[in-house]
Amino acid sequence: MLKVVNLTRIFTMGLLKRRYIYAVNNVSFEIKSGEIVSLVGESGSGKTTTAKIILRLLPPTSGKVLFEGKDIWRDYKGSTLKEYYRNVQGIFQDPYASYNPLYKVRRVIYQVFNLINEDLSDEEKYRLASDALRAVGLNPEEVLDKYPHELSGGQRQRLMIARCYLLKPKLILADEPTSMIDACSRGIVIKLLNELRNEYKTSILFITHDLGLAYYISDRILIMYKGRIIETGTPDEIISHPQHEYTKALVESVPLLYKKWSDFA
Ligand SMILES: Nc1ncnc2c1ncn2[C@@H]1O[C@H](COP(=O)(O)OP(=O)(O)OP(=O)(O)O)[C@@H](O)[C@H]1O
Ligand SMILES: [Mg+2]
Repeated sequence: MLKVVNLTRIFTMGLLKRRYIYAVNNVSFEIKSGEIVSLVGESGSGKTTTAKIILRLLPPTSGKVLFEGKDIWRDYKGSTLKEYYRNVQGIFQDPYASYNPLYKVRRVIYQVFNLINEDLSDEEKYRLASDALRAVGLNPEEVLDKYPHELSGGQRQRLMIARCYLLKPKLILADEPTSMIDACSRGIVIKLLNELRNEYKTSILFITHDLGLAYYISDRILIMYKGRIIETGTPDEIISHPQHEYTKALVESVPLLYKKWSDFA
């Protein structure tokens, strides 16, 4: 489904642009259909940069990203770009930055219907949008006519998840999707992502600092450190037999281990 090949992104810094930051350094991995893969690493390790490249928000310095065999930077442009975003969606760390401040929630949600390409009546749109908002714990009457800045951080994050719930993309890039929400709503979000995976074989790249959370939700974990993927394995392999020193330190620092899917009430 998704194949990332030797991806590198260098940022240049300083007045003379002589300082180079290898934000992402020769990263390769694959995600299969219906697989939940976590990308775990400390702040600044290159997780968001990787997600931005896959979402076509930032071009890579070198390397490529293949989605269903097509190079996302070469083969999707113009009219086919819409097809890409029909299939690949992001849920971000800072959802505020990703909304147009002039669009009300209703418009943000209804944009999804343009991607779906189905003829829907106004009533059907309203019903689908309301169902999706309720599924993520938002009250449609309360939020539809608000602007993004009138919502809380957690509500904005849930709005992005409601979009995914409507669109049912093949791949979701979830960058710290639960960073701004309380434990209870976090359970709802995690459960929703799992439901999408189980019912629609949605693949998920789940980006987090939290190895404990990654352990319980993932089929596979990628450990990122200073721009590189230094270790990969099943959650049990990573927790029981960490190879790299950094991974060992991470495993030791896991504060609380979640138990099972069913613990996310
Ligand atoms: N637009 C940019 N210009 C210059 N440097 C950047 C830019 N974006 C990211 N970086 C640098 O690239 C590195 C990786 O950043 P990135 O945001 O990918 O980290 P991250 O793993 O998502 O961290 P966090 O967990 O804090 O979100 C950091 O050193 C960051 O300062
Ligand atoms: Mg980040």
